[in-house]
Amino acid sequence: MKSIIIYSTKHGTTEKAARILSAKLPGEVVLKNIMKENVSSLEEYDNVILGGSIYIGKVQKNLTEYMQKNLKELLSKRVSLFLCAGETNEELAAKQIKGAFPEELYKAAICKDSFGFEFNFDKLNFFEKLIMKKVKGVKESYYELKEDSIDRFAKVIASNK
Ligand SMILES: Cc1cc2nc3c(=O)[nH]c(=O)nc-3n(C[C@H](O)[C@H](O)[C@H](O)COP(=O)(O)O)c2cc1C
Repeated sequence: MKSIIIYSTKHGTTEKAARILSAKLPGEVVLKNIMKENVSSLEEYDNVILGGSIYIGKVQKNLTEYMQKNLKELLSKRVSLFLCAGETNEELAAKQIKGAFPEELYKAAICKDSFGFEFNFDKLNFFEKLIMKKVKGVKESYYELKEDSIDRFAKVIASNK
């Protein structure tokens, strides 16, 4: 089994989640940060995993553009979707996943989940800190990456051969 995790990240949480996930998957796993690297072809991969993070309701533009441009090829693959996001309400988190990915891809995905979040105040810029404090009421670094969710996600991919 060969898999590729294509992800976008602003402050590194999604990259961290992608690395944790890659360690739980069987076979070879290639990691690609779509904000820095190109993905030429998906031909050699059995699994394609797409992940991004949410800022003010939206996933990174690079990931959205990649998915739109390569939708046909992505739909020919076994695709899984994940987000890193601060939303803890299950219903809203599910809605956020639905809105972050193209509808056809969302419907075709074998699994989709939110892996939690990190608010690392050392990495946030002035405006991001302000938003966190004023809008979310978060005043210091706070981490809640859900390894159990990543574990479950990996098991679905591994069992779906
Ligand atoms: C300025 C700012 C805005 C955010 N907006 C949202 C949001 O609208 N919805 C959400 O669920 N999480 C939101 N988050 C939480 C991020 O998605 C979370 O911190 C995530 O771990 C970031 O991942 P990254 O480091 O891979 O970019 C926000 C975080 C910051 C700092």
